[in-house]
Amino acid sequence: MPLASASSPRRRSFYVIRKSAIQGKGAFATRFIPAGTRVAEYTGEIISAEEAGERYDDAAMSRHHTFLFELDDGRCIDAGPKGSGDAKFINHSCEPNCEAIGEDDRVFIDALTDLEAGDELLYDYRYVIEGPIDAETKALYACRCGAKTCRGSILAPTKPKKPNKKKASRAKAKTKTKAKASTKTKAKKKTKEKAATRR
Ligand SMILES: C[S@@+](CC[C@H](N)C(=O)[O-])C[C@H]1O[C@@H](n2cnc3c(N)ncnc32)[C@H](O)[C@@H]1O
Ligand SMILES: [Zn+2]
Repeated sequence: MPLASASSPRRRSFYVIRKSAIQGKGAFATRFIPAGTRVAEYTGEIISAEEAGERYDDAAMSRHHTFLFELDDGRCIDAGPKGSGDAKFINHSCEPNCEAIGEDDRVFIDALTDLEAGDELLYDYRYVIEGPIDAETKALYACRCGAKTCRGSILAPTKPKKPNKKKASRAKAKTKTKAKASTKTKAKKKTKEKAATRR
């Protein structure tokens, strides 16, 4: 499988990887970064959705931990393999200072706000999973970002459900696939407006 192109040395100099108070390792700004700057590219091996499911089985984990980023066509960038870029170390926050932008087979991380040297780079993972979110699932995806508005989860916020019989039965059918499902981060699509303002 091909490796997505690596980020340039210039981009890498925006941040360093070190231990994070949120979880494991994180990426920290090495200098002032103005809002709108493209700080990183999420690079790794591009694999099919099926292969992603084989490599990572969320249901078998005691705490969720993957390096997958989902592309628009369902394929994923897996930053787990050796040789992948270090943007995989950027942690999640419910009050992010960065955002992920998808452009075809590539995913970039752009600064949403001005960043000071030493700030941890953070974007909102908004993971989507199938099936109901029970207590076990909540624990698996618990968020430790520490933001005032932390929603307590690295999952995407859920919309309130309407009491609809048809919808309820569809949701049940989907849970059958949960055991083999792997969660991937999804980027925002590049829009013309973004292309004009973020380069
Ligand atoms: C792509 S890795 C990010 C790098 C990770 N800190 C490491 O050292 O490998 C994604 C994983 O980091 C953890 N993570 C990231 N942000 C988190 C947060 N706000 N709260 C809890 N865990 C988080 C979760 O385990 C998630 O599956
Ligand atoms: Zn949070």
